[in-house]
Amino acid sequence: MAVKRIGVLTGGGDCPGLNAVIRAVVKTAINDHGWEVMGIEDGFLGIIRNRMHPLTMTDTSNILTQGGTILGTSNKADPANFKVGIDEEGKPVFEDVTARCVEHIAARELDVIVCIGGDGTMSGASHLVTTGIRCIGVPKTIDNDLMHTEVTFGFNTAVETATEALDRIHTTASSHHRVMLVEMMGRNAGWLTLHAGAASGADVILLPEIPYDLDVVCDYCKMRSKRGKAFTIIAVAEGAKPIGGEVVIDQIVVDSPDPIRLGGVSTHLARQIEQKTRLECRATVLGHVQRGGTPSAFDRVLATQFGFHATELIASEQFDRLVVMQESQLSSVPITEVADQQRTVELNDPLIRACQAIGVSFGTKDL
Ligand code: F6P
Repeated sequence: MAVKRIGVLTGGGDCPGLNAVIRAVVKTAINDHGWEVMGIEDGFLGIIRNRMHPLTMTDTSNILTQGGTILGTSNKADPANFKVGIDEEGKPVFEDVTARCVEHIAARELDVIVCIGGDGTMSGASHLVTTGIRCIGVPKTIDNDLMHTEVTFGFNTAVETATEALDRIHTTASSHHRVMLVEMMGRNAGWLTLHAGAASGADVILLPEIPYDLDVVCDYCKMRSKRGKAFTIIAVAEGAKPIGGEVVIDQIVVDSPDPIRLGGVSTHLARQIEQKTRLECRATVLGHVQRGGTPSAFDRVLATQFGFHATELIASEQFDRLVVMQESQLSSVPITEVADQQRTVELNDPLIRACQAIGVSFGTKDL
C-alpha cells in the first residue's frame, strides 16, 4: 500500500529540537514525497482523543530554533494503560484504549505514525506496532538514555544549559567559600551530569551509576579547603544515591506510565555535608530549565538529520524502526528493541577515566 498520509507526534518530556524534527519530517514529506502530514496533538493523547490537524509548509516555517513542541506533548498517555477516571475510593482507573487508537488512525487514514520521543514513547509505539499500525521512531531526550543510539537530540542543548549554570555557580561558590551542589535531571542515567560536570570543571560528580560514600565526599571537600581551595562544586544527578541507600523521590505521578519523579538529593546531601564538615553548603536544583529554550546548533543539525532519515525509512518501506546514530552514522533498529529500556553510563566510560585522571572525585573509593 503506497503511503499517502503520515501522522507525527511528540511524546514524553519535551526537549529542545522537537520542532526541528517536526519541520524536517513535514518539509521532506511534502517536498520530496508529496505525502500529506497530520500533526497529532499532545503525544498519544491526540490519538486516544482523536485530536489531530494538518501540518503544512507554512506551519513548519520559522520553528527550527523554537524550544518545546508546536504539537504539545504528554508523558501520561499510554494507550495500553490509560487513566479513564477514578473509582469511589479516589483511585485512578486504567483501561487499554488501543482499539480506540486503531479506529482513530484508520478514520484519519494515516499510513504511518512518526513517533518522536524517548523510551516511554517507543514503548507506546511498540504496542501500536503489534496491532498492525506502522510506526517510525525518532530518539529524543535530554537524558541521552535511549538504547542503541549513541546520542539523542536535546542532550547537547541540555549539557550546554547545565554547563552555563554550573559556570555561574562557580563564581558565587568561590566568592563565598562554599560547597555548592548543583542537581541535574537524567532519571537513572548520569550522562547529563557527567558531561556538564566535566565541561564546567566540577570537583565532585555524583552519578546514579556510581553510588556515593558520604565520608568520601566530605573528606574531599575538607581536603580542598585545607589546600586553600575554600570552595567545592558538586555536580549531582537527580538519581544519585548513597552506597546501600535509595534515590530521593520528589513525587509520584500516579497516572504516568513511569510514575516516579526524582528530585531533592542535592538539598538532602547539602545538609549532611554541612553537618559533617562544618563547611557552608548550598544546593541548586536546575529542574526544567534544562529542557527549555532554543536548541543548540548541534541539536538543530541532528534533529534535521533524524527527521529526514525518518522519512527515508518510510519511503523505503522500512517500518517499525527507530532512527539511531551508531558510530556517527545514521542507521535504524527495530522499535521493539528500545522500548522500556535505559542506556546508562558504563563504569569504564572514557570520560569517567579522564575526569578521575585530573582529580575529579566520583564520591567513592571503589572505582
Ligand atoms: O526524561 C526527561 C526528564 O526531564 C527527566 O530527566 C526527569 O526526571 C523527568 O523527565 C521529569 O519529568 P516531568 O516533566 O514529568 O517533571
